[in-house]
Amino acid sequence: MLVQGTLQLPGDKSISHRAIMLSAIANGVSYVKNLNDGADLQSTINILKDCGASIQQRDDKIVINGKELHSPSNNLDCGNSGTTTRLVAGLLASQKLTFSLIGDESLSKRPMKRIITPLTAMGCKISSNNGLLPLSIDASDGISAIDYDMKVASAQVKSSILFSALGGNNVSSINEIIPTRNHSEIMLKNMGALIGSEGSKIIVHPLKSKLNSIDISVPSDPSSAAFFVALAVINNNSNLKLTNVLLNNTRIGFVKVLNKMNCLISKSNESIHNGEKVGDLIISSSNLKAIEVEPEIIPSIIDEVPILAVVAAFANGTTVFKNVEELKYKECDRLNAIIHNLEAFGIKAYEKNNDLFVEGGKVKKMPKITTFDDHRIAMAFTILSLTSFEKYELDNKQCVDISLPNFFNYLSEVTK
Ligand code: S3P
Repeated sequence: MLVQGTLQLPGDKSISHRAIMLSAIANGVSYVKNLNDGADLQSTINILKDCGASIQQRDDKIVINGKELHSPSNNLDCGNSGTTTRLVAGLLASQKLTFSLIGDESLSKRPMKRIITPLTAMGCKISSNNGLLPLSIDASDGISAIDYDMKVASAQVKSSILFSALGGNNVSSINEIIPTRNHSEIMLKNMGALIGSEGSKIIVHPLKSKLNSIDISVPSDPSSAAFFVALAVINNNSNLKLTNVLLNNTRIGFVKVLNKMNCLISKSNESIHNGEKVGDLIISSSNLKAIEVEPEIIPSIIDEVPILAVVAAFANGTTVFKNVEELKYKECDRLNAIIHNLEAFGIKAYEKNNDLFVEGGKVKKMPKITTFDDHRIAMAFTILSLTSFEKYELDNKQCVDISLPNFFNYLSEVTK
Protein backbone atom coordinates (compact mmCIF):
# COMPACT_ATOMS: atom_id res chain seq x y z
CA MET A 1 0.00 0.00 0.00
CA LEU A 2 1.17 3.53 -0.78
CA VAL A 3 1.04 6.07 2.05
CA GLN A 4 1.48 9.55 0.63
CA GLY A 5 0.36 13.12 1.09
CA THR A 6 0.04 15.88 3.64
CA LEU A 7 -2.38 16.03 6.56
CA GLN A 8 -3.24 18.67 9.11
CA LEU A 9 -5.05 16.94 11.96
CA PRO A 10 -7.45 18.52 14.49
CA GLY A 11 -6.25 20.19 17.70
CA ASP A 12 -4.63 18.42 20.61
CA LYS A 13 -7.20 16.96 23.00
CA SER A 14 -5.26 17.73 26.20
CA ILE A 15 -4.65 21.38 25.30
CA SER A 16 -8.25 21.77 24.08
CA HIS A 17 -9.70 20.62 27.43
CA ARG A 18 -7.42 22.96 29.35
CA ALA A 19 -8.10 25.94 27.05
CA ILE A 20 -11.88 25.63 27.50
CA MET A 21 -11.71 25.04 31.25
CA LEU A 22 -9.27 27.83 32.11
CA SER A 23 -10.95 30.34 29.75
CA ALA A 24 -14.25 29.67 31.51
CA ILE A 25 -12.86 31.08 34.78
CA ALA A 26 -10.70 33.81 33.15
CA ASN A 27 -11.33 37.51 32.96
CA GLY A 28 -12.91 38.57 29.64
CA VAL A 29 -13.25 36.94 26.26
CA SER A 30 -11.01 34.07 25.08
CA TYR A 31 -10.71 32.68 21.54
CA VAL A 32 -9.76 29.08 20.77
CA LYS A 33 -9.13 27.95 17.18
CA ASN A 34 -8.64 24.37 15.93
CA LEU A 35 -10.26 22.86 19.03
CA ASN A 36 -10.25 19.05 19.13
CA ASP A 37 -13.52 17.93 17.53
CA GLY A 38 -13.98 14.72 19.53
CA ALA A 39 -16.82 13.74 21.86
CA ASP A 40 -14.63 14.15 24.98
CA LEU A 41 -14.38 17.90 24.33
CA GLN A 42 -18.13 18.11 23.98
CA SER A 43 -18.43 16.60 27.48
CA THR A 44 -16.17 19.34 28.88
CA ILE A 45 -18.10 22.09 27.05
CA ASN A 46 -21.51 20.78 28.20
CA ILE A 47 -20.38 20.52 31.82
CA LEU A 48 -19.04 24.06 31.91
CA LYS A 49 -22.25 25.34 30.32
CA ASP A 50 -24.19 23.50 33.05
CA CYS A 51 -22.19 25.63 35.52
CA GLY A 52 -23.07 28.88 33.73
CA ALA A 53 -20.12 29.27 31.32
CA SER A 54 -20.68 31.13 28.06
CA ILE A 55 -19.12 29.08 25.23
CA GLN A 56 -20.08 29.68 21.62
CA GLN A 57 -18.90 28.67 18.17
CA ARG A 58 -18.28 31.78 16.04
CA ASP A 59 -16.95 31.10 12.50
CA ASP A 60 -13.83 28.95 12.93
CA LYS A 61 -13.36 29.86 16.61
CA ILE A 62 -14.79 28.97 19.98
CA VAL A 63 -15.52 32.12 21.95
CA ILE A 64 -15.54 31.83 25.74
CA ASN A 65 -16.76 34.70 27.85
CA GLY A 66 -15.21 34.26 31.32
CA LYS A 67 -17.86 34.29 34.04
CA GLU A 68 -18.46 33.48 37.70
CA LEU A 69 -19.44 29.79 37.56
CA HIS A 70 -22.23 28.43 39.76
CA SER A 71 -23.00 25.02 41.28
CA PRO A 72 -25.03 23.03 38.74
CA SER A 73 -28.58 21.82 39.35
CA ASN A 74 -27.97 18.52 37.50
CA ASN A 75 -25.33 15.77 37.58
CA LEU A 76 -22.35 16.65 35.36
CA ASP A 77 -21.96 14.01 32.64
CA CYS A 78 -18.29 13.36 31.79
CA GLY A 79 -19.22 10.74 29.16
CA ASN A 80 -16.13 8.65 28.35
CA SER A 81 -13.60 11.30 29.36
CA GLY A 82 -11.16 10.75 32.23
CA THR A 83 -9.51 14.11 31.52
CA THR A 84 -12.85 15.90 31.84
CA THR A 85 -13.64 14.14 35.14
CA ARG A 86 -10.35 14.71 36.89
CA LEU A 87 -9.62 18.23 35.63
CA VAL A 88 -13.18 19.54 36.08
CA ALA A 89 -13.15 18.20 39.66
CA GLY A 90 -10.14 20.40 40.46
CA LEU A 91 -11.37 23.40 38.46
CA LEU A 92 -14.83 23.51 40.08
CA ALA A 93 -13.31 22.87 43.51
CA SER A 94 -11.16 26.01 43.03
CA GLN A 95 -14.44 27.91 42.53
CA LYS A 96 -15.77 26.42 45.83
CA LEU A 97 -18.73 24.76 44.08
CA THR A 98 -20.81 21.71 44.98
CA PHE A 99 -21.35 19.19 42.17
CA SER A 100 -21.69 15.52 41.17
CA LEU A 101 -19.77 13.84 38.36
CA ILE A 102 -21.11 10.87 36.42
CA GLY A 103 -19.88 9.02 33.32
CA ASP A 104 -20.45 6.14 30.91
CA GLU A 105 -19.85 2.47 31.69
CA SER A 106 -16.12 2.61 30.88
CA LEU A 107 -15.48 5.80 32.89
CA SER A 108 -17.47 4.38 35.81
CA LYS A 109 -14.84 1.63 36.13
CA ARG A 110 -11.81 3.97 36.19
CA PRO A 111 -9.99 4.77 39.44
CA MET A 112 -10.89 8.08 41.09
CA LYS A 113 -9.17 7.55 44.47
CA ARG A 114 -6.14 9.17 42.87
CA ILE A 115 -7.99 12.53 42.90
CA ILE A 116 -10.24 11.85 45.91
CA THR A 117 -7.21 11.58 48.24
CA PRO A 118 -5.52 14.92 47.40
CA LEU A 119 -8.78 16.88 46.95
CA THR A 120 -10.03 15.60 50.32
CA ALA A 121 -6.75 16.66 51.92
CA MET A 122 -7.39 20.11 50.41
CA GLY A 123 -10.73 20.38 52.22
CA CYS A 124 -13.28 18.98 49.74
CA LYS A 125 -15.99 16.71 51.11
CA ILE A 126 -16.22 13.84 48.64
CA SER A 127 -18.41 10.78 48.45
CA SER A 128 -17.93 8.11 45.80
CA ASN A 129 -18.94 4.61 44.87
CA ASN A 130 -15.96 3.01 46.60
CA GLY A 131 -13.40 5.10 44.73
CA LEU A 132 -15.38 5.05 41.47
CA LEU A 133 -17.95 7.38 39.86
CA PRO A 134 -20.40 8.84 40.70
CA LEU A 135 -18.46 11.41 42.71
CA SER A 136 -20.17 14.09 44.81
CA ILE A 137 -17.84 16.94 45.67
CA ASP A 138 -18.58 19.79 48.08
CA ALA A 139 -15.85 22.45 48.06
CA SER A 140 -18.00 25.15 49.70
CA ASP A 141 -15.81 25.30 52.84
CA GLY A 142 -12.85 26.49 50.75
CA ILE A 143 -9.57 24.95 49.60
CA SER A 144 -6.45 24.55 51.73
CA ALA A 145 -2.96 24.48 50.26
CA ILE A 146 -1.24 21.10 49.88
CA ASP A 147 2.29 19.68 49.53
CA TYR A 148 1.64 16.53 47.59
CA ASP A 149 3.90 13.69 46.47
CA MET A 150 2.44 12.13 43.32
CA LYS A 151 1.70 8.43 43.76
CA VAL A 152 1.19 7.64 40.05
CA ALA A 153 2.64 9.41 37.02
CA SER A 154 -0.55 11.15 35.86
CA ALA A 155 -1.00 14.54 34.24
CA GLN A 156 -4.71 14.34 34.99
CA VAL A 157 -4.11 14.00 38.73
CA LYS A 158 -1.41 16.68 38.67
CA SER A 159 -3.72 19.06 36.80
CA SER A 160 -6.63 18.36 39.13
CA ILE A 161 -4.48 19.41 42.10
CA LEU A 162 -2.99 22.38 40.23
CA PHE A 163 -6.43 23.69 39.26
CA SER A 164 -7.91 23.34 42.75
CA ALA A 165 -4.78 24.96 44.26
CA LEU A 166 -5.64 28.12 42.27
CA GLY A 167 -8.42 28.65 44.81
CA GLY A 168 -6.26 27.64 47.80
CA ASN A 169 -5.52 29.59 50.97
CA ASN A 170 -1.74 29.42 50.47
CA VAL A 171 1.06 28.24 48.17
CA SER A 172 0.85 24.54 47.14
CA SER A 173 3.48 22.18 45.78
CA ILE A 174 3.30 18.95 43.79
CA ASN A 175 6.28 16.63 43.71
CA GLU A 176 6.37 14.76 40.42
CA ILE A 177 9.02 12.02 40.25
CA ILE A 178 8.48 11.10 36.60
CA PRO A 179 7.48 14.15 34.52
CA THR A 180 4.13 13.99 32.73
CA ARG A 181 2.58 16.28 30.10
CA ASN A 182 2.93 19.89 31.25
CA HIS A 183 0.22 21.74 29.28
CA SER A 184 -1.55 22.91 32.45
CA GLU A 185 1.62 24.53 33.75
CA ILE A 186 2.39 26.20 30.38
CA MET A 187 -1.15 27.51 29.90
CA LEU A 188 -1.50 28.74 33.50
CA LYS A 189 1.77 30.66 33.20
CA ASN A 190 0.58 32.19 29.90
CA MET A 191 -2.65 33.27 31.55
CA GLY A 192 -0.82 35.09 34.35
CA ALA A 193 -0.84 32.51 37.18
CA LEU A 194 2.19 32.41 39.48
CA ILE A 195 3.57 28.94 38.86
CA GLY A 196 7.14 27.74 38.93
CA SER A 197 9.32 24.78 39.83
CA GLU A 198 11.98 23.76 42.36
CA GLY A 199 13.71 20.55 41.26
CA SER A 200 10.96 17.98 40.74
CA LYS A 201 8.40 20.16 42.58
CA ILE A 202 5.83 22.35 40.88
CA ILE A 203 4.98 25.40 42.99
CA VAL A 204 1.60 27.06 42.46
CA HIS A 205 0.28 30.22 44.12
CA PRO A 206 -3.42 30.81 44.65
CA LEU A 207 -4.89 33.35 42.23
CA LYS A 208 -5.01 36.91 43.62
CA SER A 209 -7.03 38.03 40.63
CA LYS A 210 -8.67 36.20 37.72
CA LEU A 211 -6.59 34.55 34.98
CA ASN A 212 -6.04 36.61 31.82
CA SER A 213 -8.03 35.55 28.77
CA ILE A 214 -6.26 33.75 25.89
CA ASP A 215 -6.32 33.75 22.10
CA ILE A 216 -4.88 30.46 20.87
CA SER A 217 -4.83 28.14 17.92
CA VAL A 218 -4.47 24.58 19.21
CA PRO A 219 -1.70 22.63 17.43
CA SER A 220 -2.55 19.22 15.94
CA ASP A 221 -2.81 16.32 18.33
CA PRO A 222 0.42 14.24 18.38
CA SER A 223 -1.55 11.29 19.79
CA SER A 224 -3.70 11.32 16.61
CA ALA A 225 -0.62 11.96 14.46
CA ALA A 226 1.02 8.82 15.90
CA PHE A 227 -1.45 6.56 14.02
CA PHE A 228 -0.47 8.08 10.66
CA VAL A 229 3.23 8.11 11.52
CA ALA A 230 2.95 4.39 12.27
CA LEU A 231 1.04 3.75 9.04
CA ALA A 232 3.84 5.41 7.06
CA VAL A 233 6.74 3.64 8.78
CA ILE A 234 5.33 0.12 8.48
CA ASN A 235 4.26 0.39 4.84
CA ASN A 236 6.61 0.48 1.83
CA ASN A 237 7.06 3.54 -0.38
CA SER A 238 5.65 5.98 2.17
CA ASN A 239 6.14 9.69 2.05
CA LEU A 240 3.90 11.48 4.49
CA LYS A 241 3.92 14.97 5.97
CA LEU A 242 1.93 15.96 9.05
CA THR A 243 1.79 19.71 9.56
CA ASN A 244 1.39 21.94 12.61
CA VAL A 245 1.84 19.06 15.10
CA LEU A 246 2.30 19.73 18.82
CA LEU A 247 5.94 18.80 19.53
CA ASN A 248 6.02 19.32 23.31
CA ASN A 249 8.75 17.05 24.69
CA THR A 250 6.37 15.38 27.15
CA ARG A 251 4.23 14.23 24.21
CA ILE A 252 6.55 13.12 21.44
CA GLY A 253 8.11 10.16 23.21
CA PHE A 254 6.69 8.05 20.38
CA VAL A 255 8.96 9.81 17.86
CA LYS A 256 11.97 9.05 20.08
CA VAL A 257 10.89 5.40 20.45
CA LEU A 258 10.39 5.08 16.69
CA ASN A 259 13.75 6.74 15.95
CA LYS A 260 15.36 4.17 18.24
CA MET A 261 13.58 1.44 16.26
CA ASN A 262 15.35 2.79 13.15
CA CYS A 263 12.50 4.91 11.79
CA LEU A 264 13.04 7.78 9.42
CA ILE A 265 11.13 10.71 10.91
CA SER A 266 12.28 14.29 10.63
CA LYS A 267 10.97 17.58 12.01
CA SER A 268 10.80 20.93 10.23
CA ASN A 269 9.29 24.40 10.61
CA GLU A 270 9.64 24.30 14.39
CA SER A 271 8.35 27.29 16.33
CA ILE A 272 6.81 28.17 19.70
CA HIS A 273 3.15 29.21 20.01
CA ASN A 274 1.57 30.04 23.36
CA GLY A 275 4.55 28.40 25.05
CA GLU A 276 4.13 25.12 23.15
CA LYS A 277 6.53 23.75 20.51
CA VAL A 278 4.87 23.14 17.13
CA GLY A 279 6.23 21.85 13.80
CA ASP A 280 5.89 19.42 10.90
CA LEU A 281 6.75 15.72 10.86
CA ILE A 282 8.02 14.06 7.68
CA ILE A 283 7.89 10.28 7.68
CA SER A 284 9.25 7.58 5.32
CA SER A 285 9.06 3.78 5.28
CA SER A 286 11.55 2.17 7.63
CA ASN A 287 13.18 -1.16 8.42
CA LEU A 288 12.25 -1.68 12.03
CA LYS A 289 14.28 -3.26 14.79
CA ALA A 290 12.93 -4.33 18.20
CA ILE A 291 13.95 -2.32 21.28
CA GLU A 292 13.41 -2.15 25.04
CA VAL A 293 11.27 0.84 26.06
CA GLU A 294 12.32 2.02 29.53
CA PRO A 295 9.73 2.81 32.26
CA GLU A 296 10.81 6.50 32.48
CA ILE A 297 9.56 7.13 28.93
CA ILE A 298 6.16 5.45 29.42
CA PRO A 299 4.30 8.58 30.69
CA SER A 300 5.32 10.41 27.49
CA ILE A 301 3.92 7.59 25.30
CA ILE A 302 1.05 6.49 27.54
CA ASP A 303 -1.61 7.03 24.82
CA GLU A 304 0.67 5.76 22.05
CA VAL A 305 1.53 2.30 23.45
CA PRO A 306 -1.30 0.62 21.48
CA ILE A 307 -0.04 1.93 18.13
CA LEU A 308 3.62 1.40 19.10
CA ALA A 309 2.76 -2.22 19.95
CA VAL A 310 1.33 -2.51 16.42
CA VAL A 311 4.57 -1.10 14.99
CA ALA A 312 6.53 -3.60 17.14
CA ALA A 313 4.65 -6.42 15.39
CA PHE A 314 6.51 -5.41 12.19
CA ALA A 315 9.95 -5.12 13.84
CA ASN A 316 12.74 -7.63 13.77
CA GLY A 317 12.90 -9.20 17.25
CA THR A 318 10.95 -8.81 20.50
CA THR A 319 10.06 -5.32 21.73
CA VAL A 320 9.51 -4.84 25.46
CA PHE A 321 7.51 -1.99 26.97
CA LYS A 322 8.58 -1.84 30.64
CA ASN A 323 6.09 -1.18 33.41
CA VAL A 324 2.91 -0.35 31.52
CA GLU A 325 0.53 -1.06 34.41
CA GLU A 326 -1.23 2.29 33.89
CA LEU A 327 -2.57 0.96 30.59
CA LYS A 328 -4.99 -1.17 32.62
CA TYR A 329 -6.81 1.95 33.86
CA LYS A 330 -7.51 3.67 30.54
CA GLU A 331 -10.75 3.72 28.47
CA CYS A 332 -10.48 -0.08 28.63
CA ASP A 333 -7.80 -2.40 30.01
CA ARG A 334 -5.48 -1.56 27.11
CA LEU A 335 -2.83 -4.07 28.13
CA ASN A 336 -5.37 -6.85 27.70
CA ALA A 337 -6.86 -5.25 24.56
CA ILE A 338 -3.45 -4.97 22.87
CA ILE A 339 -2.52 -8.59 23.61
CA HIS A 340 -5.96 -9.88 22.63
CA ASN A 341 -5.88 -8.17 19.22
CA LEU A 342 -2.23 -8.90 18.41
CA GLU A 343 -2.86 -12.58 19.17
CA ALA A 344 -5.99 -12.48 16.99
CA PHE A 345 -3.79 -11.36 14.06
CA GLY A 346 -1.34 -14.18 14.83
CA ILE A 347 1.33 -12.01 16.48
CA LYS A 348 2.79 -13.34 19.73
CA ALA A 349 2.30 -10.88 22.61
CA TYR A 350 2.19 -11.35 26.38
CA GLU A 351 2.51 -9.61 29.73
CA LYS A 352 4.94 -10.45 32.54
CA ASN A 353 5.10 -8.37 35.75
CA ASN A 354 3.41 -5.42 34.00
CA ASP A 355 5.90 -5.49 31.10
CA LEU A 356 4.45 -5.93 27.61
CA PHE A 357 6.32 -8.18 25.14
CA VAL A 358 5.58 -8.09 21.40
CA GLU A 359 7.35 -10.55 19.09
CA GLY A 360 7.73 -9.14 15.59
CA GLY A 361 6.49 -11.63 13.02
CA LYS A 362 4.13 -12.47 10.20
CA VAL A 363 0.47 -11.46 10.44
CA LYS A 364 -1.41 -14.71 9.85
CA LYS A 365 -5.16 -13.98 10.10
CA MET A 366 -7.53 -11.08 9.57
CA PRO A 367 -9.88 -11.05 12.55
CA LYS A 368 -12.73 -8.67 13.26
CA ILE A 369 -11.03 -6.14 15.55
CA THR A 370 -12.32 -6.15 19.14
CA THR A 371 -12.26 -2.46 20.06
CA PHE A 372 -13.48 -2.81 23.66
CA ASP A 373 -15.26 0.45 22.64
CA ASP A 374 -11.89 2.21 22.97
CA HIS A 375 -10.98 4.81 20.31
CA ARG A 376 -7.23 4.21 20.42
CA ILE A 377 -7.56 0.41 20.24
CA ALA A 378 -9.89 0.84 17.23
CA MET A 379 -7.46 3.12 15.39
CA ALA A 380 -4.29 1.16 16.23
CA PHE A 381 -5.63 -2.16 14.96
CA THR A 382 -7.26 -0.62 11.88
CA ILE A 383 -3.72 0.44 10.90
CA LEU A 384 -2.46 -3.12 11.48
CA SER A 385 -5.26 -4.69 9.46
CA LEU A 386 -4.99 -2.19 6.60
CA THR A 387 -1.24 -2.75 6.31
CA SER A 388 -1.59 -6.51 6.01
CA PHE A 389 -4.89 -6.91 4.13
CA GLU A 390 -5.83 -3.49 2.67
CA LYS A 391 -9.12 -3.84 4.56
CA TYR A 392 -10.42 -3.99 8.12
CA GLU A 393 -13.43 -4.98 10.16
CA LEU A 394 -14.27 -3.51 13.57
CA ASP A 395 -16.88 -4.42 16.17
CA ASN A 396 -17.42 -0.68 16.80
CA LYS A 397 -16.26 1.94 14.25
CA GLN A 398 -18.06 4.75 16.04
CA CYS A 399 -15.77 4.80 19.08
CA VAL A 400 -13.11 6.79 17.16
CA ASP A 401 -15.48 9.77 17.65
CA ILE A 402 -14.00 10.19 21.15
CA SER A 403 -10.80 11.81 19.86
CA LEU A 404 -10.72 11.78 16.03
CA PRO A 405 -14.17 11.51 14.39
CA ASN A 406 -12.73 11.81 10.85
CA PHE A 407 -10.09 9.08 11.33
CA PHE A 408 -11.37 6.89 8.49
CA ASN A 409 -11.57 9.85 6.07
CA TYR A 410 -8.01 10.91 6.87
CA LEU A 411 -6.93 7.30 6.29
CA SER A 412 -8.43 7.18 2.80
CA GLU A 413 -6.89 10.58 2.02
CA VAL A 414 -3.33 9.28 2.44
CA THR A 415 -3.57 5.64 1.31
CA LYS A 416 -3.67 4.24 -2.23
C1 S3P B 1 -4.17 13.30 29.77
C2 S3P B 1 -3.34 12.55 30.56
C3 S3P B 1 -3.15 11.09 30.41
C4 S3P B 1 -3.63 10.60 29.06
C5 S3P B 1 -4.96 11.18 28.68
C6 S3P B 1 -4.91 12.70 28.64
C7 S3P B 1 -4.31 14.73 30.04
O1 S3P B 1 -3.87 10.43 31.41
O2 S3P B 1 -3.69 9.20 29.04
O3 S3P B 1 -5.38 10.71 27.42
O4 S3P B 1 -4.85 15.47 29.18
O5 S3P B 1 -3.88 15.17 31.12
P1 S3P B 1 -3.23 10.11 32.86
O6 S3P B 1 -2.90 11.39 33.48
O7 S3P B 1 -4.29 9.38 33.62
O8 S3P B 1 -2.03 9.24 32.56
